[in-house]
Amino acid sequence: MSKILKWVGLALLAVLVAIQFFGIDKTNPPVNANEDFITLAAPPADVAQILKNACYDCHSHETAYPWYTNIEPVSWWIGRHIEEGREHLNFSIWGTYDAEKKAHKAEECGEEVEKGEMPLKSYLPMHPEARLSDAQRERLSAWFLAMSEMSEAQEGSSDMQSGGEVSSEEEHSEEGEHEHEH
Ligand code: HEC
Repeated sequence: MSKILKWVGLALLAVLVAIQFFGIDKTNPPVNANEDFITLAAPPADVAQILKNACYDCHSHETAYPWYTNIEPVSWWIGRHIEEGREHLNFSIWGTYDAEKKAHKAEECGEEVEKGEMPLKSYLPMHPEARLSDAQRERLSAWFLAMSEMSEAQEGSSDMQSGGEVSSEEEHSEEGEHEHEH
């Protein structure tokens, strides 16, 4: 019995050693400051600081990779979060989002933060700077929700300029689409 255990242990160790050769790609894609959220939306300094501390590791091309991202399989799990996070929302390419997407993502940010869904809980033990106080949470979500309302209003006014009058019916159907996206 103890012999079997010894072999199982050795085999596990061999697997752990072997997978260390399959690390994740940690090269950050280039950052174009002209497309970056903080450049474009110019949030107040305290909001920008919270974003950098609590969101940019997963939602931008400015990811910091701590030492434990050198250890597989932990790195695979973290790499997946970064990949998925950027797919859903990437502050580094904010400038490439159209007005509607910007308004929608800003609203999502407000909601996710308000509900305590973001930043991801699994991120917090190793990142004390990302543990938001109630005040920070409130500040960040209120700022995002105000921003999304403002950009929706802007979107409406630019529709008027380009497309003439917007009937209330049309506005209604647009709202319907928004609902659908959720
Ligand atoms: C540890 C990585 C990580 C951190 C840190 C993080 N997120 Fe996320 N975020 C994700 C992942 C992964 C998803 C996609 C899966 C999900 O929704 O859980 C996501 C999804 C989202 C979404 C949904 C986007 C959409 O339209 O589907 C929003 C909004 C969001 N995050 C905002 C934030 C904000 C704001 C912060 C900072 C306060 C933040 N996140 C911090 C990983 C992270």
